[in-house]
Amino acid sequence: MIKAVVLLSGRGSNFKALLDADLPVTFSAAISNRPDAAGLEYAHAHGIPAVALDHKKFPTREAFDEALIAEIEKAGADLVVLAGYMRILTRAFVERYAGRLINIHPSLLPSFPGLHTHESALREGVKIHGCTVHFVTAALDHGPVVIQAAVPVLPDDTPETLAARVLAQEHRIYPQAVRWFAEGKLVISDGCVNVREQGVSQWVLATP
Ligand code: GAR
Repeated sequence: MIKAVVLLSGRGSNFKALLDADLPVTFSAAISNRPDAAGLEYAHAHGIPAVALDHKKFPTREAFDEALIAEIEKAGADLVVLAGYMRILTRAFVERYAGRLINIHPSLLPSFPGLHTHESALREGVKIHGCTVHFVTAALDHGPVVIQAAVPVLPDDTPETLAARVLAQEHRIYPQAVRWFAEGKLVISDGCVNVREQGVSQWVLATP
């Protein structure tokens, strides 16, 4: 069993998907930068230490990330999982957890980094959209891709219908990525991630 700390800011549905997946992982803490994040409830329900660390109470991003590191170290973490964590991390944080810090993003990166990805996808008229699990680097929403899922964009989609279609796939690929990490199967070489297992697929094509 590896130890993982989850960082989140809101609803926590990806955290719930990880908890429901029966992974070979001990979640040693869930930390939110927003004290009212609904996602912390899943930690309470599973007896996982839930930490609310209000970023508004810190004078600088650096000071906040130092406090965040202290909490992560207290809990112990082989892996730090960003699950809807909506704050930019300092370079010091990213470097400290390099190779053991992963994120899920609601687009097929490198398309549509940042916020409002579903609106952007509809505005650009792309026909395929999706989500990405990647190792985190200092560049926002960028880093070696572990797994991606693609979904069709349908003619009558709204940002909400598209977001729901993508989210269902997020809940599928994030547990898979964390399982691979926990089993020691992920290898990063030349900025690309491969899975040390025969016949696995690092992509999912979802039909509506
Ligand atoms: C998810 O769609 C996740 O991909 C996104 O926030 C949502 C969180 O939902 N993350 C990002 O945009 C990070 N750049 P959740 O709280 O229900 O897991």
